[in-house]
Amino acid sequence: MASHYPPGWLDELRSRSDLVQTVSGYVSLKKNGKKYWGLCPFHGEKTASFSVDGEQQLYYCFGCKAGGNVFTFIMDMEHLSFQEAVEMLAERARMPLPQMIHDEDYQRRRTQRERLLAANREAARFYHQTLFTPTGAESLAYLRKRGLSDGVIRKFGLGAAPAEWDKLTKELLGKGFSPEELSLAGLTVIKPEEPATENTPARPRRMFDMFRNRAIFPIIDAYGNVLGFGGRILGKGEPKYLNTSDTPVFNKRKGVFAANLLRKERHLDRVILTEGYMDVISLTQFGVKGVCATLGTALTNEQARLMKRYAPEVWLSYDGDSAGQHAILRGLDILKEEGVPARVLDFPDGLDPDEFIRRDGAEGFAKLKSVTPETYRIRRLMDTLDLSSQEGKVSFARQAIAIIAPLDPVEREGYLKSLSLRTGFSDQVLRQQLAQEVRNQGLAEKSASPAPRAASRAPADPLSAVSVTLAEPDGAAPSKGKSSVPDEAVRARTVAQEQLLSLAATGLLPEDLVEEEDFEGSELKYIFQDLKKGATPASLIDRAPDAESRSRLTRLLMAPVAEGTDSMISMAQDCLASIRSGRLQEKIKEIETRAQNCTDVAERMGYMMELTNLYQKLDKEKQA
Ligand code: CTP
Ligand code: MN
Repeated sequence: MASHYPPGWLDELRSRSDLVQTVSGYVSLKKNGKKYWGLCPFHGEKTASFSVDGEQQLYYCFGCKAGGNVFTFIMDMEHLSFQEAVEMLAERARMPLPQMIHDEDYQRRRTQRERLLAANREAARFYHQTLFTPTGAESLAYLRKRGLSDGVIRKFGLGAAPAEWDKLTKELLGKGFSPEELSLAGLTVIKPEEPATENTPARPRRMFDMFRNRAIFPIIDAYGNVLGFGGRILGKGEPKYLNTSDTPVFNKRKGVFAANLLRKERHLDRVILTEGYMDVISLTQFGVKGVCATLGTALTNEQARLMKRYAPEVWLSYDGDSAGQHAILRGLDILKEEGVPARVLDFPDGLDPDEFIRRDGAEGFAKLKSVTPETYRIRRLMDTLDLSSQEGKVSFARQAIAIIAPLDPVEREGYLKSLSLRTGFSDQVLRQQLAQEVRNQGLAEKSASPAPRAASRAPADPLSAVSVTLAEPDGAAPSKGKSSVPDEAVRARTVAQEQLLSLAATGLLPEDLVEEEDFEGSELKYIFQDLKKGATPASLIDRAPDAESRSRLTRLLMAPVAEGTDSMISMAQDCLASIRSGRLQEKIKEIETRAQNCTDVAERMGYMMELTNLYQKLDKEKQA
């Protein structure tokens, strides 16, 4: 999209669309301290963990980590695109829509992420168009042979990668993308130049398409961005699926396949999570709504949190083979960790959802009963134990009771009955075992009466105690290297930089205290630059590329900081000292290594002088 709203107009709309008032239209809010609190509209909850900051015009949920400004709130509440949300708010504020700005310069200023997404979008279009030309005939025949209708092929934007070496690469180079961009997006493989050897002549740099002669499944996020691709071999061969590896815009552990369709569905009462592209597409073709899939990895916590936003429950619908059954048990653990209510669809005869719905049709699928995690776990237990022996019965009863111990007494009732039938143990014995298990697991015996709703009681601000734990566990710090020491140093610095940014976002620090160079990650640096230019925190949110970074950014900008300007300044000074001295120490280490490895005397002298210099600076920093 080369056109956009004038930034000044968006600022005006934002300032006329008060967040507290807008949210109040959907959620009942209570003021506590500086913020308003209510039940989060994006996930089911009984205690208020959704906070709205009227000053900063930002919201954040401590439960599901949804965060953002008035635009993103309307986008997520009403399932709208950015543009649609802007139009809706403009109408409410009675502001006429302005002329969109079209300019070359804007195009050039687009960030790398936007360039890569644009390349992916062009690639998806190319693959999809190719599918319906002679070049794509083989892929089209393959998809049809697998029973896909043209309608569903279009709905998922499926495509064909040509068999030639570099058709897509040439096409995209022709559209102005650079070889580096195409390689970063995972669309093109670059073979570097090879010098001549005795037997072979020199070869220039060569480029070829990553996906060749495969049926293409574009991976699209909730906002319609094409993040990457899966390519299936046409017939037998390895690898069966070739997927875009992680790129600056794609992380297979964070997204799900068909997130774009999830977002468009309204009022889903459950998300169906499968393992494969074909499962999602088949189920959708047979009319099942709200289906998505992991991307070739086991379910991750991030994916669990993502799905939580679209429905109150997740149903695991994995392959009925033993690998699938194993994955279900792991998946249930993850969903539990994230507090996502789950159920399981257990497919018979080792079938996967795709094979099952083709065999038994939509009616067969509708008749499949989903079961609770406990029922599923107990079923699996029965598969592995010999219930005809006394030993097997004891082991079964013991383990089954451990599974149901955390449930409410009323929920346990049915399980206890069937357990007694299956094992022959009396109800009384089973209950004794249960009481013991409850103690073992350290569970307080729950009362059967419903807990009072705590909705009206807003919690103390959870952030105030933890402002130093802002960095994501796997956040900005580089991947875990061999030695954990530099990692920790980097992490500590990231935390300090994030805190510094939170402080800067209040607009209360002296002008020249913090410098751009104090932030090393480009994201933090850009945010700081914009704040310095006078951008409001709420306006920065519009630039966050996805829900995850939006959430992180909101949390940063909303972080409560010390009371009073003086203590804020001294906090900022602490952050600065640790950032600056940390960086000096790193530099010192680097020069020391270079000095050690260097044989040239003059060069070595140079390093020594540089080191003396750095040590002096470090001393100064420490005294400051
Ligand atoms: N997968 C992958 N690489 C492979 C095999 C599988 O990335 N070599 C991922 C794909 O996302 C695939 C999912 O794991 O959709 C499930 O794999 P599998 O059950 O083997 O494939 P199906 O989805 O059943 O695909 P098909 O029906 O085409 O065989
Ligand atoms: Mn399959």
